[in-house]
Amino acid sequence: MVKQLKSVVYKLYILILIMIRRSDRAIMLQNCIVITGSPGTGKTLISRILSKQLQVPLIKATEIVIRYKLGSYDPESDTYDVDAEELRRVLLKVLNAPAIIDSVIPDILPQEFVELVVVLRLDPMILARRLIARNWKVKKILENVEAELLGIITYEAVEYYGLEKVVEIDTTGKSPKYLVEEIKQIIRAKNLSEYRPFTVDWLAKYEDPMKFRKQVLAMINNY
Ligand SMILES: Nc1ncnc2c1ncn2[C@@H]1O[C@H](COP(=O)(O)OP(=O)(O)OP(=O)(O)O)[C@@H](O)[C@H]1O
Ligand SMILES: [Mg+2]
Repeated sequence: MVKQLKSVVYKLYILILIMIRRSDRAIMLQNCIVITGSPGTGKTLISRILSKQLQVPLIKATEIVIRYKLGSYDPESDTYDVDAEELRRVLLKVLNAPAIIDSVIPDILPQEFVELVVVLRLDPMILARRLIARNWKVKKILENVEAELLGIITYEAVEYYGLEKVVEIDTTGKSPKYLVEEIKQIIRAKNLSEYRPFTVDWLAKYEDPMKFRKQVLAMINNY
């Protein structure tokens, strides 16, 4: 009896796996999907899984910047200054099919090459924890968590691609697998109102930016 039950459960499991595979294959990208967001929000992790599941090539903007020497290191801000125009030009050269693009710069491709821009959002306090663990300079941590607090990347994405092509997902407390399922849902259904840009509003949670900054500084000091 137990053996039979095990066999039924196993068959069901295989059936579900096949159905999931089939539904992934049914997702045919016409154009590229840009996965963007503040540093540390999970772009690389999520785009890697998504690219594998959809069997679509993954292009990492940082790799292009390094390979084609498109950035120069600025010790003052501890960041790479990237010539976005040049990056766009090189990317267009290497792009020969729809791909998943992992990029902190949202406006990395001309609009006509992009069907969807996913901005990954993360509670800035959780983001602060992730960035502190990277041992970044205080200034760099503050700049990035405050940009996330204000939703700068969403603004940039919408400014360039328009409201229709941009969605944002609150990744806070969600597993990478769950997030990839959400993105696949969005690709299938396109216009899902809960993912509209500017729906995520960290300022509603952290009303006082000065108090927020003090809390982040305290976290850094206690690390
Ligand atoms: N949904 C998640 N749940 C838990 N941890 C996550 C999640 N997404 C990402 N992480 C973790 O957060 C860290 C940052 O993720 P990742 O490197 O993918 O971010 P990123 O946006 O690509 O950062 P960067 O802009 O610096 O390249 C990693 O340690 C990763 O494992
Ligand atoms: Mg990354």
